[in-house]
Amino acid sequence: MRIAPRLIAWQRVHGRHGLPWQQTRDPYRVWLSEIMLQQTQVAAVMDYYARFLKAFPNVKKLAQAKTPEVMAQWAGLGYYARARNLHACAQRVVSDWAGSFPTTAQELVTLPGIGPSTAAAIAAFCFGERAAILDGNVKRVFARHGGIEGDPSTRAVEQQLWVMAREQLPSARACNEDANAMATYTQGLMDLGATLCTRSRPRCQDCPIHSDCRARQEGRTDELPSARTRKILPERSVAIVLAHRPGHILLEQRPDTGIWGGLWSLPELSADASSTDFCTSLGLHVTKTEQLPAFLHVFTHYRLTITPVIVRTTAPKSSATEQCLSKPTLHWIKISAIDSKGLPAPIRKLLVGLISDNVLR
Ligand code: ADE
Repeated sequence: MRIAPRLIAWQRVHGRHGLPWQQTRDPYRVWLSEIMLQQTQVAAVMDYYARFLKAFPNVKKLAQAKTPEVMAQWAGLGYYARARNLHACAQRVVSDWAGSFPTTAQELVTLPGIGPSTAAAIAAFCFGERAAILDGNVKRVFARHGGIEGDPSTRAVEQQLWVMAREQLPSARACNEDANAMATYTQGLMDLGATLCTRSRPRCQDCPIHSDCRARQEGRTDELPSARTRKILPERSVAIVLAHRPGHILLEQRPDTGIWGGLWSLPELSADASSTDFCTSLGLHVTKTEQLPAFLHVFTHYRLTITPVIVRTTAPKSSATEQCLSKPTLHWIKISAIDSKGLPAPIRKLLVGLISDNVLR
């Protein structure tokens, strides 16, 4: 039995309607929300979305912005390649598409950072295109409903799920009769995955498509989708230097590419390097060092153990924001100005904790 009519009827009554990106068909706003919502929950995105739109109200403004301004607005959302691609995409829309997003999934997918599922979501929401989405939540819905075995992140299983996603689209006739059918269906799939067909303890009794759900029929909702075969991530460790002089902390602007690209962070050394030597080499006079407990940060491709070391210094006479001349990426930043800088979330958390405990002031 087709799921689309039931999902559309359910979305109208029980789905989410008040989300800020649902009040528009402007592709810029929809695209921004879809990129922010990749690997990130709605609750975490809300404030960022509003602030980002205030800073960059349209695609032209975003294209013209400097990378650090974009990174500062993104800082804390994680997966920073998304922000770099976002900026590149805005520039491409302006240079190649005269400032108007293309209107088909096939064209949207050629832009930086827009994969097949995101392209389809934008095309369905903004232009009513009959295009199939398949994000993490939707994979779970189809794996359960179709009883599809195997790890959905593998190519073979993913292909099967794409086939299902295309087969289950509302019919062309339904789309002709109802201009909102695709937007409602697409939102319904997302809403079902986020609110009822959750990973643990799905609420099958409330689900509009439970009657022909294979996982439900076979009592296997806790086995489907099959668990990901976890890769063991490589381990790395680094020391980070909190060079401090009263009222200031030494921050480093990271290169545009790579981990935390374009963000402000603390200077990083190999785990066995001497933080004192590092500071001395910059011309700082070290008065005291304190090693803080190490913490773990997990990136997509490796696990990083970070050991922070506070290095108390008396710097040469200098103004508050003077660059540290022997290394142009380093800047003394006023502790009171840290809030306005784009910092990676774990570094911000560390600094905010030390500042509120009066360890740094
Ligand atoms: N996740 C991805 N896209 C979404 C949307 N449009 N609404 C809610 N959650 C989403």
